[in-house]
Amino acid sequence: MMRCEILTLFPDMVRPVVSQSMLKRAQEKGLLEVRVRNLRDYTLDRHQVADDAPYGGGAGMVMKAEPIFRAVEALRREYRESAPGSALRLLLPSPQGRPFTQRFAEALRDERRRLVFLCGHYEGIDERVRLGLAPEEVSIGDYILTGGELPALVMIDAAVRLIPGVLGDPESAQSESFADSLLDFPQYTRPPEVRGLTVPEVLLSGNHEAIRRWRRKEALRSTYRKRPDLLRDRLLSDEDRRLLDDIAREEGRETPVKCGEEG
Ligand code: ADE
Repeated sequence: MMRCEILTLFPDMVRPVVSQSMLKRAQEKGLLEVRVRNLRDYTLDRHQVADDAPYGGGAGMVMKAEPIFRAVEALRREYRESAPGSALRLLLPSPQGRPFTQRFAEALRDERRRLVFLCGHYEGIDERVRLGLAPEEVSIGDYILTGGELPALVMIDAAVRLIPGVLGDPESAQSESFADSLLDFPQYTRPPEVRGLTVPEVLLSGNHEAIRRWRRKEALRSTYRKRPDLLRDRLLSDEDRRLLDDIAREEGRETPVKCGEEG
């Protein structure tokens, strides 16, 4: 069971997402628990102010430290009482964080501690949150979003689909992109012809070995074309090496392109 807490000033931004589709199913099956808390509930003043102007001046607002400390303390109190050893793992989505990857998603799936996503907004959060709570900062990519809510959902989604039993077919999560660092092979479904475009013959052949080999080759081809960097440092099986030689010949090159070169 993966357990998550999302601390946010915008609970309505995350609730609809966690109550749909796979995240909903995972919760119904008892494989996932997600709780959403409004940081405003942990403010101390009558107007429930959660942000303020930055010391030193400048544009934008800064999220106050105290409500965040209080929310995390409330969590600690609650879970110490409910389950022994239920420590928290505090995550702070931030463009300054360690890059989120498929490996990271696997680690979140396997985490025994409760995952607490601390969602920042506005121009940032009071530095004393970092100093006092030492959250792990995690980035979902080199671009700036308006807050940590979408990154928290991205991380939860990527981890949840790796829990056995969440996807219909237990093979799906493994056979897809990145499980072994290859992009997907092309998929087709009925009908056999759409706008004059047909389905590759081999997929209609019923020859499982030929289909497996074709899919492997097309996954390698797609990776070779679009993300050659993923092929660079991996150990290739004899079959993969042979398929890649064929692809390189078909694509009009001698050897797979190197990382950084144009694909
Ligand atoms: N908050 C704002 N931008 C972000 C990013 N790219 N990753 C994680 N958290 C963020």
